[in-house]
Parts: sequence; C-alpha cells; structure tokens
Amino acid sequence: MNRENPKKFRVKSFGCQMNVYDGDRMTEMLTDQGMTSADDGEEADLVVLNTCHIREKAAEKVYSDIGRLRGKDGKSPLIAVAGCVAQAEGKEISRRAPSVDIVVGPQAYHRLPELLEKAKSGKKALDTDMPIQSKFDVLPTRKKQARPNAFLTVQEGCDKFCTYCVVPYTRGAEISRPWSDLIDEAKALVDGGSKEITLLGQNVNAWSSEDDKGRRQGLDGLIRALDKVDGLGRIRYTTSHPNDMTQELIDAHGDVPKLMPYLHLPVQSGSDPILKAMNRSHTTESYLDILRRIREVRPDIAISGDFIVGFPGETDEDFEKTLAVVSEANYAQAYSFKYSPRPGTPAATMESQIAPEIMNERLQRLQALLNEQQHEFNRQAVGRTTTILLERNGK
Ligand code: SAH
Ligand code: SF4
Ligand code: F3S
Repeated sequence: MNRENPKKFRVKSFGCQMNVYDGDRMTEMLTDQGMTSADDGEEADLVVLNTCHIREKAAEKVYSDIGRLRGKDGKSPLIAVAGCVAQAEGKEISRRAPSVDIVVGPQAYHRLPELLEKAKSGKKALDTDMPIQSKFDVLPTRKKQARPNAFLTVQEGCDKFCTYCVVPYTRGAEISRPWSDLIDEAKALVDGGSKEITLLGQNVNAWSSEDDKGRRQGLDGLIRALDKVDGLGRIRYTTSHPNDMTQELIDAHGDVPKLMPYLHLPVQSGSDPILKAMNRSHTTESYLDILRRIREVRPDIAISGDFIVGFPGETDEDFEKTLAVVSEANYAQAYSFKYSPRPGTPAATMESQIAPEIMNERLQRLQALLNEQQHEFNRQAVGRTTTILLERNGK
C-alpha cells in the first residue's frame, strides 16, 4: 500500500442512488488526477467509503468497514470517509477511528484532490463545508460511462424536515441544478454510452429552473426535453414527494414515450395522525388520489413506496391503517424499515417510543403483504413481450 504516492483507489458507495452518483463523480475526478480504479480483489492505496446516515445500522457500518481495511501487516490504505456520515459526524469520525485520514461531506467532495494532498503528507484532512460555489461548477465533465443506466443528480437537499429524517441536515437546503447544465450532462452521458438516465434528487419532483428561453420549467418540462435527446432510450426519476407531484408530471406519464412506467412515491404511514407527527404534510387520501390519477393516464404503471413502522406513538390501529393503504395502493415493490431514532431529529426525543418486538412484528406483517403484491405484479408479466435493458453481466 502506497500511502505517500497513491496510485490505485476504490470508491464504495452505500445508501441511496445519490451516493452512487457522487461515487461516480469522485471516481471520474480521481481518474483525472492520474489514479486508476482498483480491480476486484486488488489492493487499493486509497479507499473512499461513501456513507449513509439514514438509519443507525447504516451509519454504524462504516466503523466495521474501516476495521476491515487494515492489511495483514497492520497497515491501512489512505482512508477517506465521504457521504452523509462524514457530514453528520465530522471530526468525531477520526476520534473514533484514528486510521481515517480524510473526512469529506457530500457538498465538498470536489475538493478531494486538495484533501488528498494533505493526507499524503500525513496530516488529517476535514471538509464538511456547504460552500456557496456548487461542486457541480467545479467537477470535471462526464466520462465514458460504465453504466448503461446512468444517474444524473438534478436536485439536491431537502427543506421538508420530516421529524424522523437526517437528510435536511446531511445534504443541506434544496437546490435545483440549472437547465442547460443538465441537458449538457445528459447528452454527455448518452455520448458516453448510457441508454437510460435516472434523474435524481432527495425531492426530485421539486426540481425547477428556467429553460434556455427563460421559461419556468418543472421536472415534467425537463423530462420532455430529454425525451428529444437522440440515443437516449429511457428516462426515470426518483425520489418524489407526494406534495410536489404536479398534474403536469402525472400527465407526462401518459404521453412521453421514453418515460418508464414506474413511480417511487413514499407514503411512510397509512395513518393521518402519524403522518402529521412525521411532518409529512400530505394525507393518506391525497396520496391515494395521486395514484388514482397516474393510473388513469398509465394503467400499467409500477408503483413503489417506502414505509416506516414503529414511529413514536404508532398504535395497533395506526398500523392497521397502513396495511389498509397498502391494500388499496397495490405496490409492484416497496421498501419498509423499522423506525430508527436519529440524533438531532425531533422524533428521537418524542415520548412513547415503540418497543423493538412490536416493531419486528409489524414489519413482518407489512412485508408479508408487500411481498404478496410484488409476486402478483410479477405474475402479470408472465407471457408478456417487452423490451429490456441489459445493465451488467450476471454472475
Ligand atoms: N426523500 C425521500 C426519502 C429519503 S430517505 C422521501 O421523502 O421519500 C429513504 C427512506 O428511508 C425514507 O423514505 C424512509 O422510509 C426511510 N427513513 C428515513 N429516515 C428513517 C428513520 N429515521 N428510520 C427508519 N427509516 C427511515
Ligand atoms: Fe427526509 Fe422527508 Fe426530506 Fe424525504 S422529504 S429526505 S424523508 S426530510
Ligand atoms: Fe443515506 Fe444520505 Fe442518501 S443519509 S439515503 S446517503 S441522502
């Protein structure tokens, strides 16, 4: 392991697709610096752990990963902790794990080369600023893509402050990237070989910008413009918030050929009092109404969702209502989690936290229902002829 003059690096991303995107950009930047990506099994001189802070288990994982990086000789490669744990825990990380050399937040990773210089000379390097100058203005242009299905971050940050969630603190305030930057980046991805682009944002459907003619555009406008990019086959977007689901965006699912029939729309709970305590600012009815309207224009759409069970104060009755909403919504797939109290969030100090056994039981019941729906959705695909995109070689 060459810590003084690192040549081989590895970037490992955890958490959401926005981290995957950031990981791709860090890879491109380090390649620009003359370094090369280590192959599977090959030793790396620099390892970037691009972390997630959303639940306790995800956040704690980084410390066991750091431990595992030590070689047989007791030496570690240069270790950089990036992503949301870096933002949330900052200096605390190198205190708990002294082998960490670099700590860099999600809005500061364009400064990785400078931080690396510092680390090479044996100093600890930390940058968790949320600088005024956006990383997007500084990062090198996109390279030939290994991914047929590329990611493109269009919106970052969150102003919604759901009471359980760390994202507004780890990613900062909502920003929308400008129209022309996105069109250019999308074209560069397609030129580099990508067939599908997934537009990303913590609240992707809150994206808004002026187009090249000075007209205000929402995500539907951007999707319509990307639909005209030659060589691009498919468009997706994630994650959407129910409150930003405009009729224009719903309509786009009816008449934009390249927009895939898929919508990930988290509801979290089927009980209105719980949604209120979560500060979700939508109701179960407004959520189900969106699903009805989108199925009107695109009956075969695959609906996906996120759920949290065991939010503080959730009663058996609240939970039954979640099951009822799932029955009505009819998901093609979904993600469900036990509530995890996160430091600094309002829900962590709420009274009536739910016992782990109750959370386990609720999660099992919810997942059984969601699995059943997923199987049913998959069964409907049997015998259908459709175009598919091969994303990678299988094992
Ligand atoms: N911006 C997206 C979600 C981002 S986080 C949205 O609002 O839909 C991804 C998912 O993690 C959330 O939808 C939620 O279901 C889950 N999650 C977030 N914080 C959590 C916590 N403290 N405990 C358990 N699950 C959580
Ligand atoms: Fe978190 Fe809520 Fe923002 Fe989603 S909308 S990122 S759950 S605060
Ligand atoms: Fe995790 Fe940060 Fe994404 S906390 S889910 S990596 S925004």
